[in-house]
Amino acid sequence: MIGYKGSRWMVLLVATVGVAACGGDAAESTAEAVAQTPAAAEAANPCAETAEAANPCAAMQELPEGVTAAMVEEGKGLFGGAGICMSCHAPDGSGVPNLGADLTDDEWTHSDGGYEGIVATVMNGVTADASSSGIPMPPKGGTSITDDQVRAVSAYVWTLSK
Ligand code: HEC
Repeated sequence: MIGYKGSRWMVLLVATVGVAACGGDAAESTAEAVAQTPAAAEAANPCAETAEAANPCAAMQELPEGVTAAMVEEGKGLFGGAGICMSCHAPDGSGVPNLGADLTDDEWTHSDGGYEGIVATVMNGVTADASSSGIPMPPKGGTSITDDQVRAVSAYVWTLSK
């Protein structure tokens, strides 16, 4: 690269920056190289920053309509917190034998496992008759979490099996 000069260097630079957007090692060495020119260094910065974040370039999981990453994050807290879901479904959602169902697998007994189906189950609970363990799940897990919190915790549950 040292041999390149003038416009040819710039062309190479632009091309490399583009390619390096998700390029791991290449992004690092390119960021170093472009740091020599302020403008280019600025252009390279967004990539340098995201490179530090966890899995910046990993394909993002596509969330259902109306669900945001913030809801999933909030729901994670509710699952082990105010929603007390973990008390019957285990902290990791993998279920408790003869109590709460495994929420991490692909089998759904009380809905189609889609986001709205999960919301409906959490909102209404599961009757003893419908429950395969014979133990009912009270609406909202028996807690007084709000409808918005039900949607958030359901968003988190949705991600567990995906
Ligand atoms: C008192 C225990 C208990 C609590 C607390 C509880 N659940 Fe459940 N949950 C159950 C039982 C029992 C079932 C039905 C299991 C079965 O049919 O085998 C169930 C079923 C479910 C299902 C349906 C699974 C399927 O296969 O269709 C979802 C989703 C779910 N719970 C989510 C939650 C969430 C989210 C919370 C927290 C807000 C929560 N549960 C709190 C006991 C509980």
